Amino acid sequence: MSKKVALVTGSNRGIGASCVEEFAKLGVNVVINYCHHEEEAKNLEKHIKETYQVDVLTIKCDVSKEDEVENMVNTIVDHFGGIDILVNNAGVSRDSLLLDKNIKEFKRILDVNLIGTYLCSKYVGKIMLNAKQGKIINISSTNAFDTYYPESCDYDASKAGVVSLTHNLAREFAPFINVNCVAPGWVKTAMNKGLTYEQINAEKKKILLGRFAEAEEIAKVVVFLASSKSDYINDSIIRVDGGKYNA
Ligand SMILES: NC(=O)c1ccc[n+]([C@@H]2O[C@H](COP(=O)([O-])OP(=O)(O)OC[C@H]3O[C@@H](n4cnc5c(N)ncnc54)[C@H](OP(=O)(O)O)[C@@H]3O)[C@@H](O)[C@H]2O)c1
Repeated sequence: MSKKVALVTGSNRGIGASCVEEFAKLGVNVVINYCHHEEEAKNLEKHIKETYQVDVLTIKCDVSKEDEVENMVNTIVDHFGGIDILVNNAGVSRDSLLLDKNIKEFKRILDVNLIGTYLCSKYVGKIMLNAKQGKIINISSTNAFDTYYPESCDYDASKAGVVSLTHNLAREFAPFINVNCVAPGWVKTAMNKGLTYEQINAEKKKILLGRFAEAEEIAKVVVFLASSKSDYINDSIIRVDGGKYNA
């Protein structure tokens, strides 16, 4: 996979940052995208440049804004000449019950998680279709199918939308672009920093492996789906949840 170019959205920390590192280990040039936390992004860029022999571009872009996504994709193409891999990873959640959510909060979750995936796939997809090759990996969640939480009804709906989008993108972009989706269960990242000790223990009891995933454990599956090792995998949704069930 050497000297390919991977754009990982929302990659200043968490699962996205782990994807960036796993790609860099394989010699893939990487684009770090962030929305708010520039320092995290710059620190990651420094670490990747010092540790691996790859080119790194760091771009601030709110994936829910069409003009920003278009600018980000143009900047990447100007710098690298193309994009081989897109990981639609940027995501937000905000726990509160449906009756307590206002429409602005609900829409923001859909805008980042679902509209962001659509916009990045649209602008990167055009580049990949011109090149007649590419791999898109969408990050959904097991909350899309069966591990629902009423506090995250907006998030769960957005992640179900990402699954649906995966199936339609795979059809529209075939046979040139493989479009797959990874659906993690619980992962040890900042997204879950609000969970109490009791909540974490209760959730661990519903996981056959008895623990939350490390971000790298999700990233390794993403990198597999971006590699030639998975060339015949397309339109698939892969759960990476340690064996999780909704008890
Ligand atoms: N953690 C879990 O248990 C879990 C489980 C299933 C699925 N997932 C999914 O995995 C993905 C990564 O989550 P994570 O756990 O690594 O969470 P995280 O540590 O909170 O990271 C979220 C990332 O998304 C970025 N982001 C947020 N809004 C953005 C926007 N409008 N435009 C561009 N980037 C934006 C953040 O950048 P800034 O900090 O700069 O805003 C950050 O880099 C998400 O799609 C999440 O839904 C996570």
